[in-house]
Amino acid sequence: MERVDFGWDDYWAEVFRVKYRLSIPGIQQYDEMVVDFCVDALSLRKGKKLLDIACGAGDQSILFAKRGIAVCGFDLSAKLIEVAKAKSGEANLEIDFSTGDMREINFKSQFDAAVLLSHSFGFFNHDENKRVLDGSFNALVKGGKILLDLMNPYNLPRFQKTWTKLEDGFLLSEPHVLDAPAGVLRGRPASFIDVANSRIVDMNEDALAGNDIRMYTALEIKEMLRQVGFSKIELYGQNKLPKMPYAANSERMVVVATK
Ligand SMILES: C[S@@+](CC[C@H](N)C(=O)[O-])C[C@H]1O[C@@H](n2cnc3c(N)ncnc32)[C@H](O)[C@@H]1O
Repeated sequence: MERVDFGWDDYWAEVFRVKYRLSIPGIQQYDEMVVDFCVDALSLRKGKKLLDIACGAGDQSILFAKRGIAVCGFDLSAKLIEVAKAKSGEANLEIDFSTGDMREINFKSQFDAAVLLSHSFGFFNHDENKRVLDGSFNALVKGGKILLDLMNPYNLPRFQKTWTKLEDGFLLSEPHVLDAPAGVLRGRPASFIDVANSRIVDMNEDALAGNDIRMYTALEIKEMLRQVGFSKIELYGQNKLPKMPYAANSERMVVVATK
């Protein structure tokens, strides 16, 4: 079999965020639960304006929009934004999807709330991560809220090497590894046995570059949010209702802060 490598946007975004995601049992119910939680924690009502940062293929944006929330979603991946637009079009929903880099958020006092779901925070060095919070702060109206749905650094999932059968081949995912001195969860290369095209696809450097996630502790993230200007910082231990306090063994670390 031929062996090739591809980048995030031209190949892997669709494999992970569309094809693999669809294969996860109960993923739609999971998204519904997360959206219910966000609606409650952010007091989202019909007509409120929400910024979905790193919206991926728009799965949660669409659920928010179905509840009458005015959603603007953006993601670095043009491929995922294309998929998100097609899905929202099929559902007859008006969602403002665009491509963009979360380090360069340019909105000014426009949104009642912003979300970063599925641990979409911590991809960069510390200054750049802080810039994401800065841009989010500027994008919110006074009293607006941000919600970060993160892994709990004290209770990380048990990552395993997995083979997953997708519609046109098999995905091999190597387990993430915690680089404790750096405080970074290192993503590992994945491979896709592309049966339909008789080839093995690996990740190129570009795809691998976006694999790491800085694991901030609650104290660190609170400090960053305060430095940026946020106040009233709340922590929750799960991304579903009922709201649970955050603890060492919590499933998630969900942070909500107010401008
Ligand atoms: C874990 S996925 C989450 C997607 C979606 N929020 C969800 O929960 O399904 C992380 C997303 O971040 C996007 N991303 C990575 N770097 C980014 C950047 N610099 N700016 C905006 N989006 C980025 C990826 O393309 C990917 O869709």
